[in-house]
Amino acid sequence: MKIEKMIAGGYGLGRKDGKIYLVKGAYAGEDVEVEVEKQMKDVAFCTVKKIDIPSQKRRIPICSHFGSCGGCDWMDLEYEAQLEYKRDIFTDQMNHIAKVDLLPPQIIPTSQYFYRNKVEFSIKDGKIGYFGKNSHNFVEIDKCHIISNDLNEIKDEAKKHNLNGFDHLVIRKSEGRKMAIFISKIFQRVPDINTDDIVLLVNKNPHVVVAGHQKIIKGNGYLEIELNGITYRIPPKSFFQVNYEGAEILSSKVSEYAGKGENLLDLYCGVGFFTLQVARNFAHVKGVESSPSSVIEARENARLNGLNVDFINSKTSQFELSNFDVVIADPPRSGIDKETMNAILKVRPKKFVYVSCDVSTFARDSYELIQRRYKIKDVVLVDLFPQTHHFEIVSLFEREV
Ligand SMILES: C[S@@+](CC[C@H](N)C(=O)[O-])C[C@H]1O[C@@H](n2cnc3c(N)ncnc32)[C@H](O)[C@@H]1O
Repeated sequence: MKIEKMIAGGYGLGRKDGKIYLVKGAYAGEDVEVEVEKQMKDVAFCTVKKIDIPSQKRRIPICSHFGSCGGCDWMDLEYEAQLEYKRDIFTDQMNHIAKVDLLPPQIIPTSQYFYRNKVEFSIKDGKIGYFGKNSHNFVEIDKCHIISNDLNEIKDEAKKHNLNGFDHLVIRKSEGRKMAIFISKIFQRVPDINTDDIVLLVNKNPHVVVAGHQKIIKGNGYLEIELNGITYRIPPKSFFQVNYEGAEILSSKVSEYAGKGENLLDLYCGVGFFTLQVARNFAHVKGVESSPSSVIEARENARLNGLNVDFINSKTSQFELSNFDVVIADPPRSGIDKETMNAILKVRPKKFVYVSCDVSTFARDSYELIQRRYKIKDVVLVDLFPQTHHFEIVSLFEREV
């Protein structure tokens, strides 16, 4: 079948006999033969069996693990085409789900390779690797081309030790500091590898990697990084942006959109990444976050930077919203939950800065905002995740009346 266009999730879309086929590994303009993996009523999820007419935008991927490790689904596509398709996917979703016609926005690229400051490896039979997407295939990793080179080196050193009994190895880094996090179901001796910090997490929950009881084996148990003039401490279990270069672009854009004013609220604030940037321009600032360890660190980060911010440990749905001039939200992939969206729409801030890593839930939430007389004043995409179909959206909504 002919692939018409690229859509959310990184699939190529084709049609046959009134049915839609979503094809992983196929690109717009190609003629492909497919293998159906999952059959549903109106749509079938497929993989490529044979490419009859390939896209001119294909290239040879630089990584030997491409196709088997489960990451980097677009590494065999020219980088310019990756950017073009991300913009197309954004406008397509906004058109279909948010019911709004937008010109393709600017997309800001970042370094193509070795950009990630965090990696979550699985450990199987003492070997370090990744599990392929939607499969139980374990792939031992020689070199990963999207994580920073020092993370690859730490993995190589860890490989020399006996890793039996560990489920995961997470490695994170900041400017000049590296942290290894070993995850195991039981307390056990941890290999002494050459990182500034070593942490053991005792975690029985197979669904969440970075969780559980924490024991600091070496170092002080947190990373520190300065971005756009603010110093952040990042504890082992807390979310932090995985691409520092992209993170600086994001926070500059959020600060520009938020502007200056009196009262600002940052929902899903993590360790205060955006909150502390914008706190320099607002008189009263609050941040809301559900992870207790992130809130402790957010408060410490405010103190470190001499900024006065009120961080509240709560689910956003349980936080009582009052009048704010500006509200920022940067939710997980699931987007803004219904209760939180209703509360935002009830207090109707003049400006709403929405940061999202999921185009489908962003489009769904945009629809709600647009129905309630918000207008998209500006939007940019930031390519935080080159070689994959993922990207980040930063947008400014303004209340019309
Ligand atoms: C995409 S991260 C953004 C964090 C922060 N804005 C940053 O850039 O570092 C989403 C954050 O929302 C938090 N979170 C998830 N569900 C939440 C909820 N229902 N209420 C409050 N925070 C939540 C997560 O712990 C995580 O820190």
